[in-house]
Amino acid sequence: MDKKIKRIGVLTSGGDCSGMNAAIRSVVRSGIYMGFEVYGVFHGYDGLIEGVIKKMNCRSVGNIINRGGTFLKTARSHRFLTPEGRKKAVISLKDKKIDALIVIGGNGSFRGAQELYREHKIPVIGIPATIDNDCHGTDFSIGTDTAVNVAMEAIDKIRDTAFSLERLFVIEVMGRHLGYIALQVGVAAGVEEVLVPEFEFDMKSLVKDIKKGHRKGKFSWMIVVAEGAASANDIARQIFDLSGFRPRVTVLGYLQRGGSPTAMDRILATRFGKAAVDAIARGDCDKMVAMSANTIQLIDFKTACSGKKDLNRDDYNLIKILAI
Ligand code: F6P
Repeated sequence: MDKKIKRIGVLTSGGDCSGMNAAIRSVVRSGIYMGFEVYGVFHGYDGLIEGVIKKMNCRSVGNIINRGGTFLKTARSHRFLTPEGRKKAVISLKDKKIDALIVIGGNGSFRGAQELYREHKIPVIGIPATIDNDCHGTDFSIGTDTAVNVAMEAIDKIRDTAFSLERLFVIEVMGRHLGYIALQVGVAAGVEEVLVPEFEFDMKSLVKDIKKGHRKGKFSWMIVVAEGAASANDIARQIFDLSGFRPRVTVLGYLQRGGSPTAMDRILATRFGKAAVDAIARGDCDKMVAMSANTIQLIDFKTACSGKKDLNRDDYNLIKILAI
């Protein structure tokens, strides 16, 4: 146990996602269990700069494991991107005698955390929480599973209309620059086509498939498009121009970020929270907790923030095979 560390701060940063509350609960309670004082920082890095910090007790995090969003609130802080902003944040930490920080967020948040360590030697451990699942080195991030399930349920509902009225639908999902959510939900909802930024797609051959299906008596089509690949409205327009079929469009948007977390996200968040506190207790820093091959590991922030995750080509091909 690192004897110098007595007080830990915890904050959520960047886009909210389901399971962040479960992670905060785990950090606060396992931190207290291990003898630390735990402080909640409100409004992400902005709150750190402003010193919006409150001491947590076990009851502070009661009744939140099942709630989406983050009770600590979050922010996409522009001020923390500057050295001046980070200096102010360090003043707040020193003021409250906080020795180490746990940051629950995604790549952008971890870049800030890296700087905090590099410039001021504040020990920081990250917990990956983003629906995009774009942190390198971890198979899963908190929030992704809930987002995929929410999108799947929505597509199941849209399917009722697609089937009943024999319509073509183009459904846009989030994921920033990655097609992870699109591909996962594409497999889970049994859609006909998934368009992702990682793999090239050809609109002419897509329309050819639709027409071929039509001739064989397949009249309802579900196409999922990742926001990083194209906009659903553009794709629908192109399909209309090339085929004369007029697809209906649904953009799922922020629906995917909210709602009660799935069991998988709650369990992941709970394990990550404890692992982050353990890492701080051991004196680790500048790292992110990760899940790889069903084992919790620690990955350097540098690795976590660099590189692009590969998308599963087999799943992509499987969608095409099963769409016959
Ligand atoms: O990173 C999570 C995410 O929901 C992305 O999927 C999406 O592109 C982006 O955030 C939306 O950002 P904002 O919350 O700033 O609108």
